[in-house]
Amino acid sequence: MKLLLICLLGVLSVTCGANGATRNSHLICYYDSASYLRPGFAKLDAHHLELALQFCTHLVYGYVGLKPGTHELYSLNVDLDMFHFKDITQLRDRFPHLKVLLSIGGDRDVDESHPNKYLELLEANRTDQQNFIDSSMVMLRRNGFDGLDLAFQFPKNKPRKVHGTIGTYWKQFKKLFTGDFIVDPSSAQHKEQFTELARNLRNAFQSANLLLTLTVLPNVNSTWYFDVPKLHPLMDFINLAAFDFLTPVRNPEEADYTAPIFHFDAQQRLPHYNVEFQLNYWLQNHCPPQKLNLGIATYGRAWKLSKDSGLSGLPVVPSTLGPGQGGLQIGSSEGLLSWPEICAKLPLNQTAVYRGANAPLRKVTDLTQKYGNYALRPADEEGEHGLWVSYDDPDFAGIKAAYAKSKDLGGVALFDLGYDDFRGLCTGQKFPIVRSVKYFLG
Ligand SMILES: *[C@@H]1O[C@H](CO)[C@@H](O)[C@H](O)[C@H]1NC(C)=O
Ligand SMILES: *[C@@H]1O[C@H](CO)[C@@H](O)[C@H](O)[C@H]1NC(C)=O
Ligand SMILES: *[C@@H]1O[C@H](CO)[C@@H](O)[C@H](O)[C@H]1NC(C)=O
Repeated sequence: MKLLLICLLGVLSVTCGANGATRNSHLICYYDSASYLRPGFAKLDAHHLELALQFCTHLVYGYVGLKPGTHELYSLNVDLDMFHFKDITQLRDRFPHLKVLLSIGGDRDVDESHPNKYLELLEANRTDQQNFIDSSMVMLRRNGFDGLDLAFQFPKNKPRKVHGTIGTYWKQFKKLFTGDFIVDPSSAQHKEQFTELARNLRNAFQSANLLLTLTVLPNVNSTWYFDVPKLHPLMDFINLAAFDFLTPVRNPEEADYTAPIFHFDAQQRLPHYNVEFQLNYWLQNHCPPQKLNLGIATYGRAWKLSKDSGLSGLPVVPSTLGPGQGGLQIGSSEGLLSWPEICAKLPLNQTAVYRGANAPLRKVTDLTQKYGNYALRPADEEGEHGLWVSYDDPDFAGIKAAYAKSKDLGGVALFDLGYDDFRGLCTGQKFPIVRSVKYFLG
């Protein structure tokens, strides 16, 4: 009772678990500054942001880029960043516990004429890499950031079919030998170079008291780029973006759970399209679990269904037609729907009969709590209006947070605040995913 009271009074700086002395879990909140520029209800401004910050331990400002040639870190949107950097880092005045990091890459630094610039940085000599280190430190200190998050855009795995017949397995086997799955022939060298760059960054940051963290982006094979035993001591923590295993852009012709926790044995699914596989790679290579944060997406992915996709919606869904119509607010062409956009498509009234493009989706809740939820609307007689969405709602994000806790991980990383329901449009509660994750992390 006394212990409980101390906990309630917040006298202890640690959370109070069963033994009263468990450590504080991390809740890493990504903030893509693009959400500040979105029109209408999708615009996330500092006033909304503050509601989340009582729950977040770290705010990660996304994203800056890498300048090809000079290898400098630079702002991708000077007009915004020149005042917004400081707006955001100054939030610490009201939330003194908060650490604010700056993130580079994050799949937002798209540069068609220099698709390999992150690898070129790794290949650059020590003098050139010092440009990267120096420019990072200048940007961080000038704007009051607490550290840098490396969300480097390494080459991604090529998309593969989720499952197949024996015949296609044979094809995949052949492709393996013809090198079709090798996206970077020099990955062994790049892996060493990345460790070396991280070490030099760490050394420079240490004296300036800056944090250094790593974000592993979706569909980057950790085996190729991250020498876990050497790398983890150089990082304050590592966020695994363990979602988007399938997307309607990468896998237009079939839909499946985009971020299941466990391997779903049925239908000969590939073994690595799940959270557990990604996590185990780091754990089995002796990364301390407390250094890892489990990445959870606050958005879902939508595929367009054809008449041949069937009525059941049971994944793996065949014969899909690429991205479903993106959200009206986010306006994405990649079949991305924010949580409030998904919520708006779910039925409020199960008994009402609707038809056409505005008919609500049928929600299928995963009672096993292993793979995630989905919702669908089969295509009509004309083959129109079909939609299939895979997503983590506040409940399932909570299940993942509990999973992270059961694995003794450092915490959870949310991608990102701008896709959570920060206005409370769904149930009236603002930031329901942030809250649910916080609740289950304790
Ligand atoms: C490093 O590489 C740059 C070209 O990228 C070159 O101009 C420079 O001389 C090199 N420096 C050293 C010390 O090798
Ligand atoms: C990553 O690459 C390794 C080595 O090439 C391979 O064995 C492994 O299956 C790959 N993992 C994924 C998730 O593709
Ligand atoms: C649900 O829809 C049915 C049929 O349109 C209607 O009779 C009923 O009042 C609605 N219920 C609610 C709670 O809106």
